[in-house]
Amino acid sequence: MDALEIEGRRLELVEGDITTQTVDAIANAANTALRGGGGVDGAIHRAAGPALLAELGERYPDGTPTGTAVATNGHGLPAKWILHAVGPIWRGGGHGEEALLTDAYRACLRLADELGARAVAFPAISMGIYGYPGPEGARVAIDTVARHLGRGTGIETARFVLYSHETLELFHDALVRWQTDRSVDRGAG
Ligand code: APR
Repeated sequence: MDALEIEGRRLELVEGDITTQTVDAIANAANTALRGGGGVDGAIHRAAGPALLAELGERYPDGTPTGTAVATNGHGLPAKWILHAVGPIWRGGGHGEEALLTDAYRACLRLADELGARAVAFPAISMGIYGYPGPEGARVAIDTVARHLGRGTGIETARFVLYSHETLELFHDALVRWQTDRSVDRGAG
């Protein structure tokens, strides 16, 4: 377990399955149609049960655009809510991918604060089927969530749940870099 304290709040990195996390909300790496899929989306739908697909169809019949997120109940999951975020498909980096991935994490953080979630878990959005390069995807994830923890938020614990040791290492490196940059900034006074 990697962990960092930011303004009294915890940013954690763990290797594991996000569907088993006992937190208030888990983020899902969904697609714009919000009709389930493979990867973590498939795992979440399998664990939550068919009522999740029904809720998505009723509440969000038109889906949601890339870079946004919508909330549902957790249904069969330990988590109370699921934040269905849509990250960008990697197309080489010149199509606003970084901004869209940042927006996807920010949309989850905003929803978590609106819902009053204190503990939130995130997968590595876009870093699987959507092909976002690992080091860059981890940097955007860590920077966006760490920055949010540094300002007024009700979130007390933000946990990245990584599905492989390789992905955990990428996030560990990004966390170390963020910490280093922050201490340099602080040093700058
Ligand atoms: N828990 C945590 N992380 C997981 C799990 C799990 N149970 N299963 C997969 N992952 C990891 C993957 O290893 C990857 O690091 O989640 C990360 C995101 O990968 P994807 O699930 O492929 O998501 P993404 O790259 O954002 O692609 C989204 O894939 O599943 C479809 O419907 C989804 O169309 C959408 C697309």
